[in-house]
Amino acid sequence: MRSAASVERLSKRYGSVRAVEDVSFTIETGEVFGIVGPNGAGKTTILECIEGLRRPDEGRVRVLGLDPWCERYALRERIGVQLQTAALPERIRVGEAVTLFADLYRRRGDPEAALRRVGLADRRGAAVAHLSGGQRQRLFIALALVHEPEVVFLDELTTGLDPQGRRDAWDLVRDIRERGATVVLTTHFMEEAERLCDRVAIFDLGRVVALDTVGRLIASLGEERRVAFTHIGALDDAAVRALPGVVRVERLGDRVVVSVRGAGTAGRVTTALEETGVAFDDLRVERPTLEDVFLARTGARLPGADAPEA
Ligand SMILES: Nc1ncnc2c1ncn2[C@@H]1O[C@H](COP(=O)(O)OP(=O)(O)OP(=O)(O)O)[C@@H](O)[C@H]1O
Ligand SMILES: [Mg+2]
Repeated sequence: MRSAASVERLSKRYGSVRAVEDVSFTIETGEVFGIVGPNGAGKTTILECIEGLRRPDEGRVRVLGLDPWCERYALRERIGVQLQTAALPERIRVGEAVTLFADLYRRRGDPEAALRRVGLADRRGAAVAHLSGGQRQRLFIALALVHEPEVVFLDELTTGLDPQGRRDAWDLVRDIRERGATVVLTTHFMEEAERLCDRVAIFDLGRVVALDTVGRLIASLGEERRVAFTHIGALDDAAVRALPGVVRVERLGDRVVVSVRGAGTAGRVTTALEETGVAFDDLRVERPTLEDVFLARTGARLPGADAPEA
Protein backbone atom coordinates (compact mmCIF):
# COMPACT_ATOMS: atom_id res chain seq x y z
CA MET A 1 0.00 0.00 0.00
CA ARG A 2 1.27 3.46 -0.81
CA SER A 3 2.23 5.52 2.21
CA ALA A 4 0.06 8.52 3.10
CA ALA A 5 3.02 10.85 3.42
CA SER A 6 6.78 10.84 3.34
CA VAL A 7 9.43 13.28 4.44
CA GLU A 8 12.99 12.98 3.19
CA ARG A 9 15.87 14.92 4.67
CA LEU A 10 13.73 17.91 5.49
CA SER A 11 15.30 21.02 7.03
CA LYS A 12 13.68 24.32 7.96
CA ARG A 13 15.33 27.37 9.51
CA TYR A 14 13.90 30.63 10.79
CA GLY A 15 16.86 33.01 10.48
CA SER A 16 19.51 31.42 12.64
CA VAL A 17 17.07 29.02 14.39
CA ARG A 18 17.28 25.49 13.02
CA ALA A 19 13.70 24.43 13.70
CA VAL A 20 13.90 21.12 11.78
CA GLU A 21 17.18 19.52 10.81
CA ASP A 22 17.54 16.68 8.28
CA VAL A 23 14.41 14.75 9.23
CA SER A 24 13.06 11.72 7.35
CA PHE A 25 10.09 9.46 8.03
CA THR A 26 7.09 7.84 6.38
CA ILE A 27 3.47 7.90 7.50
CA GLU A 28 1.50 4.79 6.52
CA THR A 29 -2.02 4.94 5.15
CA GLY A 30 -4.62 4.44 7.87
CA GLU A 31 -2.35 4.82 10.87
CA VAL A 32 -2.46 7.31 13.70
CA PHE A 33 1.00 8.86 13.67
CA GLY A 34 2.05 10.88 16.70
CA ILE A 35 4.70 13.57 16.92
CA VAL A 36 5.81 14.38 20.46
CA GLY A 37 8.61 16.47 21.90
CA PRO A 38 9.34 19.37 24.22
CA ASN A 39 8.29 22.95 23.43
CA GLY A 40 10.20 24.27 20.46
CA ALA A 41 11.24 20.79 19.25
CA GLY A 42 9.95 21.58 15.73
CA LYS A 43 6.64 19.68 15.77
CA THR A 44 4.45 22.46 14.41
CA THR A 45 7.10 23.42 11.87
CA ILE A 46 7.33 19.95 10.38
CA LEU A 47 3.57 19.57 10.41
CA GLU A 48 3.20 22.85 8.53
CA CYS A 49 5.76 21.73 5.97
CA ILE A 50 3.78 18.51 5.43
CA GLU A 51 0.49 20.42 5.21
CA GLY A 52 1.88 22.76 2.55
CA LEU A 53 1.68 25.83 4.79
CA ARG A 54 5.45 26.27 4.95
CA ARG A 55 8.09 25.70 2.36
CA PRO A 56 10.98 23.54 3.57
CA ASP A 57 14.47 24.94 2.97
CA GLU A 58 15.70 21.51 1.99
CA GLY A 59 14.29 18.07 1.47
CA ARG A 60 11.37 16.43 -0.18
CA VAL A 61 7.79 15.97 1.10
CA ARG A 62 5.00 13.97 -0.51
CA VAL A 63 1.43 13.71 0.76
CA LEU A 64 -0.95 11.40 -1.11
CA GLY A 65 1.63 11.45 -3.89
CA LEU A 66 1.55 15.25 -4.18
CA ASP A 67 4.09 17.94 -3.40
CA PRO A 68 2.33 19.87 -0.63
CA TRP A 69 3.93 23.19 -1.57
CA CYS A 70 3.69 23.13 -5.39
CA GLU A 71 0.39 21.23 -5.52
CA ARG A 72 -1.24 22.69 -2.43
CA TYR A 73 -4.55 23.52 -4.10
CA ALA A 74 -5.06 19.94 -5.21
CA LEU A 75 -3.94 18.66 -1.83
CA ARG A 76 -6.17 21.00 0.18
CA GLU A 77 -9.21 19.09 -1.03
CA ARG A 78 -7.89 15.87 0.42
CA ILE A 79 -6.38 16.88 3.77
CA GLY A 80 -7.88 18.40 6.92
CA VAL A 81 -5.86 20.74 9.09
CA GLN A 82 -6.49 21.78 12.65
CA LEU A 83 -4.00 24.51 13.48
CA GLN A 84 -2.43 24.99 16.89
CA THR A 85 -3.33 28.68 16.72
CA ALA A 86 -6.25 29.67 14.56
CA ALA A 87 -8.79 32.46 14.57
CA LEU A 88 -12.28 33.05 13.26
CA PRO A 89 -14.26 36.28 13.22
CA GLU A 90 -15.80 36.52 16.69
CA ARG A 91 -19.30 37.22 15.45
CA ILE A 92 -19.59 34.36 13.02
CA ARG A 93 -21.92 31.61 14.27
CA VAL A 94 -20.84 28.00 14.68
CA GLY A 95 -23.22 26.77 11.97
CA GLU A 96 -22.12 29.52 9.58
CA ALA A 97 -18.45 28.76 10.09
CA VAL A 98 -18.81 25.08 9.32
CA THR A 99 -21.00 25.77 6.27
CA LEU A 100 -18.55 28.38 5.04
CA PHE A 101 -15.71 25.89 5.32
CA ALA A 102 -17.74 23.12 3.63
CA ASP A 103 -18.36 25.47 0.70
CA LEU A 104 -14.62 25.91 0.19
CA TYR A 105 -14.30 22.33 -1.00
CA ARG A 106 -15.41 20.60 -4.16
CA ARG A 107 -16.28 17.56 -2.04
CA ARG A 108 -18.57 19.59 0.14
CA GLY A 109 -19.39 17.09 2.88
CA ASP A 110 -22.05 17.53 5.51
CA PRO A 111 -21.69 20.51 7.87
CA GLU A 112 -24.36 19.25 10.25
CA ALA A 113 -22.74 15.83 10.51
CA ALA A 114 -19.39 17.49 11.25
CA LEU A 115 -20.94 19.44 14.13
CA ARG A 116 -22.57 16.31 15.47
CA ARG A 117 -19.28 14.44 15.38
CA VAL A 118 -17.69 16.98 17.70
CA GLY A 119 -20.76 17.40 19.92
CA LEU A 120 -21.55 20.97 18.86
CA ALA A 121 -24.86 20.44 17.04
CA ASP A 122 -26.80 22.21 19.79
CA ARG A 123 -24.44 25.21 19.62
CA ARG A 124 -24.88 25.87 15.91
CA GLY A 125 -26.54 29.25 16.58
CA ALA A 126 -23.87 30.45 19.04
CA ALA A 127 -21.38 33.14 18.09
CA VAL A 128 -17.76 31.97 18.13
CA ALA A 129 -17.06 34.68 20.74
CA HIS A 130 -19.43 32.91 23.13
CA LEU A 131 -17.81 29.48 22.95
CA SER A 132 -15.64 28.16 25.75
CA GLY A 133 -12.02 27.35 24.92
CA GLY A 134 -12.84 23.67 24.61
CA GLN A 135 -15.86 24.27 22.39
CA ARG A 136 -13.76 26.49 20.15
CA GLN A 137 -11.21 23.71 19.92
CA ARG A 138 -13.93 21.27 18.92
CA LEU A 139 -15.20 23.69 16.30
CA PHE A 140 -11.74 23.80 14.74
CA ILE A 141 -11.72 20.02 14.64
CA ALA A 142 -15.14 20.07 12.90
CA LEU A 143 -13.74 22.53 10.34
CA ALA A 144 -10.85 20.16 9.68
CA LEU A 145 -13.19 17.20 9.14
CA VAL A 146 -16.10 18.73 7.25
CA HIS A 147 -14.95 17.59 3.77
CA GLU A 148 -14.10 14.02 4.87
CA PRO A 149 -10.35 14.36 4.24
CA GLU A 150 -8.08 11.40 3.63
CA VAL A 151 -5.36 12.70 5.94
CA VAL A 152 -6.16 14.73 9.05
CA PHE A 153 -3.56 16.84 10.87
CA LEU A 154 -4.25 17.73 14.48
CA ASP A 155 -1.78 20.04 16.23
CA GLU A 156 -2.22 19.69 19.99
CA LEU A 157 -5.65 18.24 19.66
CA THR A 158 -6.54 18.18 23.34
CA THR A 159 -4.67 21.13 24.82
CA GLY A 160 -7.21 23.11 26.81
CA LEU A 161 -9.85 20.39 26.90
CA ASP A 162 -11.34 19.12 30.16
CA PRO A 163 -11.02 15.39 30.95
CA GLN A 164 -14.34 14.53 29.30
CA GLY A 165 -13.51 16.70 26.28
CA ARG A 166 -10.19 14.92 25.99
CA ARG A 167 -11.84 11.50 25.99
CA ASP A 168 -14.34 12.70 23.40
CA ALA A 169 -11.46 13.90 21.24
CA TRP A 170 -9.79 10.50 21.57
CA ASP A 171 -13.00 8.81 20.43
CA LEU A 172 -13.09 11.19 17.51
CA VAL A 173 -9.57 10.25 16.46
CA ARG A 174 -10.47 6.55 16.64
CA ASP A 175 -13.59 7.28 14.60
CA ILE A 176 -11.58 9.13 11.93
CA ARG A 177 -9.22 6.18 11.73
CA GLU A 178 -12.03 3.64 11.54
CA ARG A 179 -13.38 5.49 8.53
CA GLY A 180 -10.04 4.76 6.88
CA ALA A 181 -8.38 8.16 7.12
CA THR A 182 -4.82 8.70 8.28
CA VAL A 183 -4.28 10.87 11.34
CA VAL A 184 -1.13 12.84 12.13
CA LEU A 185 -1.19 14.49 15.53
CA THR A 186 1.09 16.29 17.94
CA THR A 187 0.60 16.19 21.66
CA HIS A 188 2.29 16.99 24.94
CA PHE A 189 0.39 14.26 26.72
CA MET A 190 2.25 10.98 26.67
CA GLU A 191 -0.75 9.05 27.90
CA GLU A 192 -2.66 10.37 24.91
CA ALA A 193 0.07 9.34 22.48
CA GLU A 194 0.28 5.95 24.15
CA ARG A 195 -3.45 5.32 23.85
CA LEU A 196 -4.06 6.73 20.39
CA CYS A 197 -1.01 6.33 18.22
CA ASP A 198 0.10 3.35 16.20
CA ARG A 199 3.54 4.89 15.88
CA VAL A 200 5.20 7.80 17.59
CA ALA A 201 8.10 10.00 16.52
CA ILE A 202 9.89 11.70 19.40
CA PHE A 203 11.36 15.03 18.35
CA ASP A 204 14.02 16.97 20.18
CA LEU A 205 15.88 20.05 18.96
CA GLY A 206 14.53 19.67 15.42
CA ARG A 207 15.50 16.03 15.01
CA VAL A 208 13.78 12.67 15.33
CA VAL A 209 15.39 10.96 18.32
CA ALA A 210 13.15 7.86 18.25
CA LEU A 211 10.42 6.51 16.01
CA ASP A 212 8.54 3.26 16.47
CA THR A 213 5.35 1.68 17.74
CA VAL A 214 4.51 2.59 21.32
CA GLY A 215 5.13 -1.01 22.41
CA ARG A 216 8.59 -1.16 20.86
CA LEU A 217 9.56 2.28 22.20
CA ILE A 218 8.67 1.15 25.71
CA ALA A 219 10.41 -2.17 25.21
CA SER A 220 13.55 -0.26 24.16
CA LEU A 221 13.97 0.73 27.81
CA GLY A 222 14.71 -2.91 28.55
CA GLU A 223 13.44 -4.83 31.53
CA GLU A 224 12.97 -1.68 33.54
CA ARG A 225 10.28 -1.49 36.22
CA ARG A 226 9.46 1.23 38.68
CA VAL A 227 8.79 0.55 42.33
CA ALA A 228 6.87 3.60 43.53
CA PHE A 229 5.85 4.25 47.13
CA THR A 230 5.13 6.97 49.63
CA HIS A 231 7.55 6.68 52.52
CA ILE A 232 6.75 7.47 56.10
CA GLY A 233 9.58 8.68 58.28
CA ALA A 234 13.22 8.68 57.32
CA LEU A 235 14.56 7.00 54.22
CA ASP A 236 18.20 6.46 53.40
CA ASP A 237 18.42 7.09 49.65
CA ALA A 238 21.96 5.76 49.45
CA ALA A 239 20.87 2.42 50.97
CA VAL A 240 18.06 2.11 48.44
CA ARG A 241 20.39 3.02 45.60
CA ALA A 242 22.81 0.33 46.77
CA LEU A 243 20.23 -2.46 46.46
CA PRO A 244 21.01 -4.87 43.61
CA GLY A 245 19.30 -4.00 40.32
CA VAL A 246 18.47 -0.40 41.25
CA VAL A 247 19.32 1.98 38.41
CA ARG A 248 17.77 5.23 39.61
CA VAL A 249 16.02 6.74 42.63
CA GLU A 250 13.77 9.75 42.09
CA ARG A 251 12.01 11.76 44.78
CA LEU A 252 8.91 13.89 44.35
CA GLY A 253 8.17 15.05 47.90
CA ASP A 254 7.23 11.93 49.91
CA ARG A 255 6.87 9.89 46.75
CA VAL A 256 9.86 7.77 45.87
CA VAL A 257 10.28 6.09 42.52
CA VAL A 258 12.94 3.40 42.35
CA SER A 259 13.76 2.27 38.82
CA VAL A 260 15.04 -1.28 38.72
CA ARG A 261 16.28 -3.57 36.00
CA GLY A 262 16.31 -7.33 35.66
CA ALA A 263 13.79 -10.13 36.05
CA GLY A 264 12.42 -10.43 39.59
CA THR A 265 14.27 -7.35 40.79
CA ALA A 266 11.13 -5.40 41.68
CA GLY A 267 10.05 -8.11 44.12
CA ARG A 268 13.50 -8.34 45.69
CA VAL A 269 13.69 -4.56 46.15
CA THR A 270 10.25 -4.54 47.78
CA THR A 271 11.32 -7.29 50.19
CA ALA A 272 14.58 -5.50 50.93
CA LEU A 273 12.68 -2.31 51.73
CA GLU A 274 10.48 -4.19 54.16
CA GLU A 275 13.51 -5.77 55.81
CA THR A 276 15.24 -2.43 56.32
CA GLY A 277 12.22 -1.34 58.34
CA VAL A 278 11.24 1.52 56.03
CA ALA A 279 7.57 2.33 56.58
CA PHE A 280 5.78 2.91 53.29
CA ASP A 281 2.35 3.23 51.82
CA ASP A 282 0.68 2.89 48.43
CA LEU A 283 3.45 0.77 46.95
CA ARG A 284 3.09 -0.08 43.28
CA VAL A 285 5.23 -1.82 40.74
CA GLU A 286 4.78 -0.06 37.41
CA ARG A 287 5.87 -0.81 33.91
CA PRO A 288 7.64 2.00 32.11
CA THR A 289 5.41 4.25 30.04
CA LEU A 290 5.91 6.36 26.96
CA GLU A 291 6.64 9.22 29.34
CA ASP A 292 9.71 7.35 30.58
CA VAL A 293 10.85 6.86 26.99
CA PHE A 294 10.25 10.55 26.33
CA LEU A 295 12.28 11.57 29.35
CA ALA A 296 15.06 9.14 28.53
CA ARG A 297 15.30 10.20 24.89
CA THR A 298 14.89 13.96 25.18
CA GLY A 299 16.99 14.41 28.28
CA ALA A 300 14.08 16.33 29.82
CA ARG A 301 13.91 15.85 33.57
CA LEU A 302 11.01 15.78 35.96
CA PRO A 303 11.28 18.33 38.75
CA GLY A 304 13.14 16.77 41.65
CA ALA A 305 14.49 13.94 39.54
CA ASP A 306 18.06 12.75 39.86
CA ALA A 307 20.63 14.03 37.41
CA PRO A 308 20.81 11.99 34.21
CA GLU A 309 23.14 9.04 34.31
CA ALA A 310 26.19 9.05 32.12
N1 LIG B 1 7.46 31.85 12.66
C1 LIG B 1 8.58 31.65 13.33
N2 LIG B 1 9.59 32.53 13.27
C2 LIG B 1 10.74 32.32 13.91
N3 LIG B 1 11.01 31.26 14.69
C3 LIG B 1 10.04 30.34 14.80
C4 LIG B 1 8.77 30.48 14.14
N4 LIG B 1 8.02 29.42 14.43
C5 LIG B 1 8.76 28.65 15.24
N5 LIG B 1 9.97 29.18 15.47
C6 LIG B 1 11.07 28.58 16.26
O1 LIG B 1 11.34 27.31 15.70
C7 LIG B 1 11.52 26.32 16.71
C8 LIG B 1 10.51 25.21 16.53
O2 LIG B 1 9.21 25.73 16.79
P1 LIG B 1 7.87 24.88 16.63
O3 LIG B 1 6.74 25.82 16.77
O4 LIG B 1 7.97 24.09 15.39
O5 LIG B 1 7.98 23.93 17.89
P2 LIG B 1 6.90 22.95 18.55
O6 LIG B 1 7.60 21.65 18.73
O7 LIG B 1 5.65 22.96 17.78
O8 LIG B 1 6.71 23.61 19.98
P3 LIG B 1 5.38 23.63 20.94
O9 LIG B 1 5.41 22.33 21.67
O10 LIG B 1 5.70 24.76 21.87
O11 LIG B 1 4.19 23.86 20.10
C9 LIG B 1 11.44 27.08 18.03
O12 LIG B 1 12.74 27.40 18.43
C10 LIG B 1 10.66 28.32 17.69
O13 LIG B 1 11.01 29.39 18.54
MG1 LIG C 1 3.70 23.45 18.24
